[in-house]
Amino acid sequence: MSASDLFLLVVRWLHVVSAAAWVGGSIFYLVVLRPALKRNPDTPRGLVSAAGAEFKTLVDACIIVLVATGAVLAFDRLTERAVDTAYAATLAVKVVLSVWMFVQVQIQRRRAAFLEAFGRLEEPPPAGLKRLGRAVSGYNVLVIVGIAVLLLSELLGALFERGLR
Ligand code: HEM
Repeated sequence: MSASDLFLLVVRWLHVVSAAAWVGGSIFYLVVLRPALKRNPDTPRGLVSAAGAEFKTLVDACIIVLVATGAVLAFDRLTERAVDTAYAATLAVKVVLSVWMFVQVQIQRRRAAFLEAFGRLEEPPPAGLKRLGRAVSGYNVLVIVGIAVLLLSELLGALFERGLR
């Protein structure tokens, strides 16, 4: 194994670990922690804030690593002859969805900070068109898009292998 192969192996490994930590952590929050907090409204606010702050640090680190390693992986793949239009188009969709996820994280944080300033954990249910807007921008959609990005990543691997044959 050459030095560049080893470098790409480490880059790919860091990319996958960050993806697993971010999407896995988000699924844990959505499916385990959030319902548990709703059922126990007496949970000390300090504990909830501390857990949120720790998770924010983890997500920030994951985003930085995903962008840096993703750029290296994309450059490596796009300079290979095995790459076709289907691969490039799938990668473009993946990058757009990833950027959407990065932006959503910032939006969700601003919303959470706003709620905290008013001493609430959840916003009241919105009415009318605002309900639709909330439905397509909430944390649950962020997690679903994250899972879709994982699927696109597997598709990229399959498309690349097909190109090699
Ligand atoms: C700017 C953002 C990103 C770029 C440019 C990028 C780019 C890439 C590229 C080029 C590959 C290699 C695909 C192949 O095998 O041919 C890859 C793999 C992968 N990416 Fe990303 N990615 C980005 C963000 C993300 C995000 C946000 C996630 C997770 C939510 C993610 C999860 C993965 C996974 C799980 C793999 C498969 C690695 C493997 O099986 O070896 N990526 N990415």
